[in-house]
Amino acid sequence: MKVRKAVIPAAGRGTRFLPATKAIPKEMLPIVDRPTIQYVVEEAVNSGVKTIVLITSRGKSGIEDHFDLAPELESLLQKKGDQKTWQEVHALAGMCEMISVRQQEQKGLGHAVLCARQAVGNEPFAVLLGDDIMDADPPVTAQMIRAFEEFGGSIIGVLNVPREQVHLYGAIKGKEVKPRVHRIERIIEKPSAEEAPSTIASTGRYLFTPRIFDFLEDQAPGRGGEIQLTDAIDRLAKIEPVYALEYQGLRFDAGEKIGYLRANLHYALKRPDLSAGVKELIREFSKKI
Ligand code: UTP
Repeated sequence: MKVRKAVIPAAGRGTRFLPATKAIPKEMLPIVDRPTIQYVVEEAVNSGVKTIVLITSRGKSGIEDHFDLAPELESLLQKKGDQKTWQEVHALAGMCEMISVRQQEQKGLGHAVLCARQAVGNEPFAVLLGDDIMDADPPVTAQMIRAFEEFGGSIIGVLNVPREQVHLYGAIKGKEVKPRVHRIERIIEKPSAEEAPSTIASTGRYLFTPRIFDFLEDQAPGRGGEIQLTDAIDRLAKIEPVYALEYQGLRFDAGEKIGYLRANLHYALKRPDLSAGVKELIREFSKKI
């Protein structure tokens, strides 16, 4: 069955970015001149996704507005004759169908994904975390869809991370079935460096068969008292094949400050209108350190 839907959980509180995120969703903080979540939505759409199920919470309606028409702004841009900006702004509303679901209490990522159950229905679906940006060609979600078509089971996007960072992720125990593809035996949320079964870590991209919802439905709270997606994946892997794909591409964790700054530098350097200025800035700051 084709993967047509993607869930983007974006209901978290973004406490690591306070006070910036007191009134603005962290997913709306700009990477250069586009909100973080726009990169994520574009990845899904460029991977063939037709419907996005956005999981939001109170105070985050700015995300929905960003992907809606803005008639006053658009007519202003047209009056000014700024066709290029108009096109960019206008296109945001027509990228895909967007369904928005409120997660009323922030009970954890697993619970956020469960909130999409009705909107997703009985079909495979992708999950892209709203603050994880991937720069890859083909897009990481497209790589995962390809692996899903080949292996037929749920897929977790993974990277091999330094052991001293593994405590920040879900780490897998698995068997390599093909270069860069592992069949998962276990996945453990935020293990210590000593207890981590490997340094292969889950990094914000997933592709699930709808069976995951059955496990999320009765998943007990885990680490931090939150309903953890990782715990439900661990149970799913015991009854049907779940794979980890070491995807090709660069990942930016825009949900924490250094990752956010790194993403800004990376995308600014790629921009023909900005790269010379950014290189100049880097030279200036390199002299100070
Ligand atoms: P994070 O832990 O990175 O997001 O969750 P957070 O809770 O907003 O961050 P901090 O720690 O307070 O700064 C990973 C993803 O899961 C979503 C977040 O929006 C983010 O995209 N999430 C998390 C939910 O949608 N609901 C939740 O209950 C928890």
